[in-house]
Amino acid sequence: MSVEIKKVKYYPELREIAALADIIWHECYGELLGQGQVDYMVEKFQSVDAMTEQIEKQGYTYLSVCDDEELCGYIGIKPEADDRLFLSKLYLRNDKRGRGTASAMLNYVFEEARKIGKKRVYLTVNKHNSHAIDVYKKTGFVVADTAVTDIGGGYVMDDYIMEYVL
Ligand SMILES: CC(C)(COP(=O)(O)OP(=O)(O)OC[C@H]1O[C@@H](n2cnc3c(N)ncnc32)[C@H](O)[C@@H]1OP(=O)(O)O)[C@@H](O)C(=O)NCCC(=O)NCCS
Repeated sequence: MSVEIKKVKYYPELREIAALADIIWHECYGELLGQGQVDYMVEKFQSVDAMTEQIEKQGYTYLSVCDDEELCGYIGIKPEADDRLFLSKLYLRNDKRGRGTASAMLNYVFEEARKIGKKRVYLTVNKHNSHAIDVYKKTGFVVADTAVTDIGGGYVMDDYIMEYVL
């Protein structure tokens, strides 16, 4: 297993990430949120158009995670105006989980945050996404707040806001 994390620079890579996101989001949120909400969220947040807009207009960076040169996960980050980096996305295909790859992904994010002088990394996670919450807690994130966010289409996201102090 040789994991490589690198910044996404080209449109074809974004297309591959969109296809992977479609698979992972349906697998991990299908039961939790229902098919309709997952379809809506994938289109709104992880389609090529949505990610292009996030990168070009909202300051997001996407990172690809490859194992032996095969795309198997991705990360989305955005520096805030204050001392925080927003960890917007952290996704790994299910057959690649349980091997410590998320720790490598999180360490990469912490390093990126330090490089640009940030002091904290924060994220939002669905309150029922217990595995991800366990991983974040084990890494040193703590629950800082909760948020119910209206994402349109009659859907809401019911999240914890978790924070890691660098
Ligand atoms: C969240 C996700 C990226 C984590 O990846 P993973 O491969 O399952 O996690 P890892 O095996 O790399 O574990 C990371 C660390 O947490 C620890 N860990 C894993 N499960 C744990 C648990 N239940 N309790 C405590 N620690 C745990 C691991 O031991 C590892 O620590 P180590 O590297 O020091 O040994 C992955 O499960 C995923 O993509 N899930 C679906 C998408 C998702 O929910 N993303 C988050 C959205 S907010």
